[in-house]
Amino acid sequence: HSARIAIDPSFTVGPVRRETFGSFVEHLGRCVYTGIYEPGHPSADAQGFRGDVLDLVKELGVSTVRYPGGNFVSGYKWEDGVGPAADRPVRYDLAWHSTETNAFGLNEFMAWTKASGTEAMMAVNLGTRGIQEALELLEYSNAPGGTALSELRRSHGVDEPHGITFWCLGNEMDGPWQLGHKTATEYGRLAAETARGMRQMFPELTLVACGSSSSNMPTFGEWERIVLTEAYDEVDLISAHAYYREENDLPSFLAAADDLDYFVASVAATADAVGAARKSPKKIGISFDEWNVWYHEEENPGIITGGEWPVAPRMEEDRYTVADAVVVGNLLISLLRNTDRVHSASQAQLVNAIAPIMTEPGGAAWRQTIFHPFALTSRFAAGRVLRVAIDSPSYENARFGSSELVDAVATHDADAGTMALFVVNRALDAATSIRLDATAFGDVSLVEALTFSNDDVHWRASEQDSTSVLPTPNPTAALADGALTIELPPVSWSMVRLT
Ligand code: AHR
Repeated sequence: HSARIAIDPSFTVGPVRRETFGSFVEHLGRCVYTGIYEPGHPSADAQGFRGDVLDLVKELGVSTVRYPGGNFVSGYKWEDGVGPAADRPVRYDLAWHSTETNAFGLNEFMAWTKASGTEAMMAVNLGTRGIQEALELLEYSNAPGGTALSELRRSHGVDEPHGITFWCLGNEMDGPWQLGHKTATEYGRLAAETARGMRQMFPELTLVACGSSSSNMPTFGEWERIVLTEAYDEVDLISAHAYYREENDLPSFLAAADDLDYFVASVAATADAVGAARKSPKKIGISFDEWNVWYHEEENPGIITGGEWPVAPRMEEDRYTVADAVVVGNLLISLLRNTDRVHSASQAQLVNAIAPIMTEPGGAAWRQTIFHPFALTSRFAAGRVLRVAIDSPSYENARFGSSELVDAVATHDADAGTMALFVVNRALDAATSIRLDATAFGDVSLVEALTFSNDDVHWRASEQDSTSVLPTPNPTAALADGALTIELPPVSWSMVRLT
């Protein structure tokens, strides 16, 4: 196969936003306990934060971290997780049928964001709770002192306010599985009133209303229309969640980013229609605050039922293939391409549960395949996102009908004089030769070309071997007369950097 790509520094979509490289820590399985937090682990600091995990989080290049859920937040009392450890109640977590010890809570999480150099995206419970509890959490977190709840925080040893500005108004309230699930009208009213109250305390917050849990939801589209009709003036962003898996159909799976593009376009059109009807100059952005590959494998225990309520069980610990990593790289390509509308995104999740980073209790931390495209894109996407013109052959697949074999996005940092191209080859059968026309950039040279692929596209990293398949220099890359040529192996993700 062959494809042509053209880029021009003046054809920009918008900024590369650091918020695109967010992640998610939920009280789910071992994401918190024996994930980011394990007192007594050989690498743990005095606060119980695993140092090996902190190092990997920094290497991954994570910006914001959503917390504490997820489905978990819809039954959570934030007060349970603050104050002296010995006084914290043990509770059932109904979302994941687990026991929550509350050893780790708000103040530990905020200390962890400092240690990891990340920024919090905090979710309030709008499932079993409402406006009052959201306001109390905000006061406890952000009031400097002199009020009951800010003084309570100070009595808990946290003198300075946390200053959390990024808030999710509940989680997946469109989902019948959600504790406190609501109709769009019920939720839209509650989101609007919660947002209004929160802004009465601190006007300068970024507030995210719940959108759809997937583009397959029967209420998709209508949900966004109704919620935004209620809450348009009060919120800044509407959320989107999407998970993909192979399901014995690799060609469709490899085109998962087509769904993400469709998702963004549909939500943007719906939001703009609501805005037009109310003659509002305001534009609602999208917070893609859960996205990833997720299998719900049978041999990998999902939701527990019955009389067992384990503490931090092994749950949703997907092991990712090379093909999964190609899809993750492609989803990042799509998120960047949509940077004019997607203002924030969170890969779900960070450690152990559907995660790029895995740990063993008391043992090692290691990188999954999906770690690599995330880390490289986060590190080298910079400046402005460029609109790329792609002339690619297409291929038939069951889910989308026809999809392009090649998908790509480019970023240009004019100040640094650097450019990065992120590109996937979705072909199963053969390599694709790419010709990238970069003549509009003048005199450029090749910095590096890395490719992630493997003959066995279902190879998975493990604790024993997480390094035998890594992104490696692509020796076919060559630059002549402003045109780059490169061979992309089948089912591959690549990054090319020019200067
Ligand atoms: O990320 C795992 C779960 O997926 C989250 O708790 C929920 O919001 C979504 O359904």
